[in-house]
Amino acid sequence: AQLVILHQSIPNRWMLEHMKLIHILHCIYIGFISIDCGLRNSSSYNDSATGLWFDPDDGYVEGGMRKQISQKFMADPFNEQQKTLMSFPDGSRNCYTLPSTIGKKYLLRATFTYGNYDGLNKTLDGSLFLFGLHIGVNSWEAVNLTNWDHTSILWKELLTVAPSNSLSVCLVNLGSGIPFISSLELRPLEDTMYPFVNTSVSISLLARTRFGNVADSITRYPTDNYDRIWESDSTSYPGVILSTTNKVESLPGNNFFNIPSVIMQNALTVDMNFSRSRIIITPPEGPNIDTKNMQLLPIFHFAEINGSNPNRRFDIYSAGELLFSDFSPSRFQVDSMHQNGRFLRNPNASFLLNKTVSSTLKPLINAFESYSLVRMDNLTTDSEDVNYMKEVKNHYNLTRVNWNGDPCSPREYSWEGLTCDYSKSNQNPRIVSVNLSASGLKGGLAVSLMNMVSLVYMDLSHNNLTGAIPDYQLKSLKILNLSNNQLVGPIPDSILRRFQAGLLELRLEGNPICSKVKDTYCSNKNKNAIQTMVIAVTVPVVLVSLIVLMCIIWKLCWKGKSDHEDYAMYEEETSLHVDIRRFTYVELKLITNDFQSIIGKGGFGIVYHGKLENGDEVAVKVLMETSIEDSTDFLPEVQTLSKVHHKNLVTLKGYCQNKKCLALIYDFMSRGNLQQLIRGGDDYSLNWEQRLHIALDAAQGLEYLHESCTPSIVHRDVKTPNILLDKNLVGIISDFGLSRAFNDAHTHISTVAAGTLGYLDPEYHATFQLTVKTDVYSFGIVLLEIITSQPPVLMEPQTFHLPNWVRHKIAMGNIHDIVDKRLLDQYDANSLQSVVDLAMNCVENAAIHRPTMTEVVSRLKELLPVVSSEKLSVSASTSSMNPMDAEIRRQFQLTISGVSNEENSFQSGYAGGMSELIHLSGR
Ligand SMILES: *[C@@H]1O[C@H](CO)[C@@H](O)[C@H](O)[C@H]1NC(C)=O
Ligand SMILES: *[C@@H]1O[C@H](CO)[C@@H](O)[C@H](O)[C@H]1NC(C)=O
Ligand SMILES: *[C@@H]1O[C@H](CO)[C@@H](O)[C@H](O)[C@H]1NC(C)=O
Ligand SMILES: *[C@@H]1O[C@H](CO)[C@@H](O)[C@H](O)[C@H]1NC(C)=O
Ligand SMILES: *[C@@H]1O[C@H](CO)[C@@H](O)[C@H](O)[C@H]1NC(C)=O
Ligand SMILES: *[C@@H]1O[C@H](CO)[C@@H](O)[C@H](O)[C@H]1NC(C)=O
Ligand SMILES: *[C@@H]1O[C@H](CO)[C@@H](O)[C@H](O)[C@H]1NC(C)=O
Repeated sequence: AQLVILHQSIPNRWMLEHMKLIHILHCIYIGFISIDCGLRNSSSYNDSATGLWFDPDDGYVEGGMRKQISQKFMADPFNEQQKTLMSFPDGSRNCYTLPSTIGKKYLLRATFTYGNYDGLNKTLDGSLFLFGLHIGVNSWEAVNLTNWDHTSILWKELLTVAPSNSLSVCLVNLGSGIPFISSLELRPLEDTMYPFVNTSVSISLLARTRFGNVADSITRYPTDNYDRIWESDSTSYPGVILSTTNKVESLPGNNFFNIPSVIMQNALTVDMNFSRSRIIITPPEGPNIDTKNMQLLPIFHFAEINGSNPNRRFDIYSAGELLFSDFSPSRFQVDSMHQNGRFLRNPNASFLLNKTVSSTLKPLINAFESYSLVRMDNLTTDSEDVNYMKEVKNHYNLTRVNWNGDPCSPREYSWEGLTCDYSKSNQNPRIVSVNLSASGLKGGLAVSLMNMVSLVYMDLSHNNLTGAIPDYQLKSLKILNLSNNQLVGPIPDSILRRFQAGLLELRLEGNPICSKVKDTYCSNKNKNAIQTMVIAVTVPVVLVSLIVLMCIIWKLCWKGKSDHEDYAMYEEETSLHVDIRRFTYVELKLITNDFQSIIGKGGFGIVYHGKLENGDEVAVKVLMETSIEDSTDFLPEVQTLSKVHHKNLVTLKGYCQNKKCLALIYDFMSRGNLQQLIRGGDDYSLNWEQRLHIALDAAQGLEYLHESCTPSIVHRDVKTPNILLDKNLVGIISDFGLSRAFNDAHTHISTVAAGTLGYLDPEYHATFQLTVKTDVYSFGIVLLEIITSQPPVLMEPQTFHLPNWVRHKIAMGNIHDIVDKRLLDQYDANSLQSVVDLAMNCVENAAIHRPTMTEVVSRLKELLPVVSSEKLSVSASTSSMNPMDAEIRRQFQLTISGVSNEENSFQSGYAGGMSELIHLSGR
């Protein structure tokens, strides 16, 4: 409405400014982003053909060279967007980053007009000229301009879901010509549209055609609200056009395609006088479409727009496969026919509409779309890591040529100087090392990036970094090389303490800071960069030596002191350098109300109930003097626990460490432990589903220890008393008292005997090696306890190890005999069988035959009704498609009838997404 005023007024300067503003506001309002790549004058303009506002590429891309096309190489000299282009001679990947809304659906369009901008006749010199186009970290399509006319516009379109709050489009140099781009457009779609497009599936346009009598060769915005480009199909006899002035609408609630009524008001059919009855839709013999290797998704839009009571029925075929039989279009109503996101192999990309014998009228078609599948399987780098890297890039104004797009993905385009961890195939890659040595960095030290959760190695040596080293909490960093900069002191405690504890290798030589200090970090040891592999081995070794050292110190100090002295006087000077709260003995007395309420007795101490200042309930595990000689188990637990965070692993809130008392403070679990719950008598019993959930919780906790910790952590003492339950009955693994950092390289460290009778892996007795499979064995016993509510070793009537008892019972008769009687047969027999199978599989004698915890988790998940949010969203999207399923079934459950000998056809070629698009702006 605002735009109408403009046509009525006499333009003046004020008006022009105003018009510009209105256009900009309008574009912001509808969320369109239109970029005219290579635009020299950094001035936006209003495209007169579409009324859309186009911006230059400033701010959307780094690098690139602006180029211009001379008029004689332009098919349409008035087409603004094709006048200029951005060419990328440097770097193997260059990305445009467009703002988007995470999870929202978009149409993305890129156009390419070579126009002999470099005067090298590249597209016609007989050699291959192509480059790659990526959507984020996934390959979209190749842009093949070989043998392409200089003046023609190549055009690519993608429907996709934004994976984050930005969407990137990358041009990839494949060694066959310099990538370039002429324009880039982003259009939001409704979330209901193209329901088969989701985060893992995008679709790339092959063709979008409207049929009938249409004056313009291109229909787009504002006729189409979403600025889809519809090409008109030129008709020739015996094709016959139909049109109506009646409104053609979709059924209420059908908002999958939102085709403009005006497009549906025109259609194409075949002359009645002619015997032909077929419409074949084929692509032009475009040299650059490789439809043979594509998976196609056709969408046919039909509406009957002929007079009253027509009898029009036809079959729809794709490469000989009948897609829809005996279809009859509804009157003045849109029927969009597709197969719910099923992709088809169709080497010729041609589709046939074949009249049925009983039909009096020939087939008709109003509009047609065809897309090819673009898989979005590759994962982007963890978003937190990406943000840190962007911060660092901006902070130091780094213009590294390949620091473009996603830092780690795809692997072959990862940023130079970064090492990423791709080992967890279903998780986003993480950055583990950053090497910015000799990169000309100037100014203060941007340390926030060392907070990256997975960062192990950081090299900023040989730069010109100035100022002090800021104080901040280091996370996983193991090596920090700041040598040969201009840094001054003092070194913050947070870093120094980790260095002194041997948890951090620090190098500062060649900095002014070292003129005063003479510590090892200031001597030029000239070590080679230590690889992450080495760290994995050294850190546990350092840890163990540290523990041993500390134990010796404690024992010496303790023996030397009299028992009468006040505990509070002996708070240790050195802390454990972990990022959790350290309590004093006095504080402990306070929060446990002078150790009043005992809630349990563990292997090496008593567990008290406590309440923090903020009211949080905690469990305080205290190791008193009498057991202090066993304190070797204690410190590893602090170290390990403070680093491990998972919803099914108990959270360590703090610790206390002084000469008289060592204590750990955990979240309090109000429902006690699993052993109490399953053997607790008849007053309360868990139902089958609750038991499975707890089993799954525990399995997930263990899986995390095994798979997500580097090095893997073997729990070593998995048993029902070590599985705690919170108020919602969520299973939480506790007691890492016997856990040790573990990996293949140093299994020999794990020689401390561990485990509890009845739970211990039989292979351990033979090999004295604890592996993750040891935990799997113990978990199998836990699973059997959950099913049977029996202890791991039965005493009555004779001594039986639980797995043997189960085997015995099953062999004797009925699997149901093993089940806890309190379940009152209220469980699913198949589910029981599966859990027993899984448990028996876990307690196989040979570790090699046992499943991994990951397999255990997935097998347990299969047994549970799904309630995770991920699955919910999937079912939500399926249910939203159900009305369409029903609609399709209602309309098309008819059979093919009769055979006709009419054999002629009408061929409708469509000009597809890879085709020439001379009149893009309709002039
Ligand atoms: C840039 O603007 C100037 C004056 O506004 C004009 O003469 C020139 O042709 C423009 N250049 C391009 C590439 O549009
Ligand atoms: C490009 O082609 C034109 C005409 O075909 C020819 O005159 C010109 O020399 C060619 N330029 C190059 C660099 O090959
Ligand atoms: C995913 O990345 C790999 C290499 O990192 C690449 O080879 C592959 O083509 C990518 N997949 C897609 C769908 O882009
Ligand atoms: C995306 O859709 C495809 C089918 O169109 C489906 O197989 C896949 O599971 C969906 N993925 C997600 C993440 O919803
Ligand atoms: C690119 O197009 C040329 C010419 O049409 C064709 O020969 C070539 O196979 C195509 N290359 C690719 C990778 O599609
Ligand atoms: C570091 O900065 C100082 C002062 O700005 C300058 O004199 C010196 O040349 C720089 N050194 C390097 C290696 O860039
Ligand atoms: C089209 O229909 C005719 C009869 O109406 C039949 O003979 C012919 O086989 C059909 N074509 C295809 C490809 O099924």
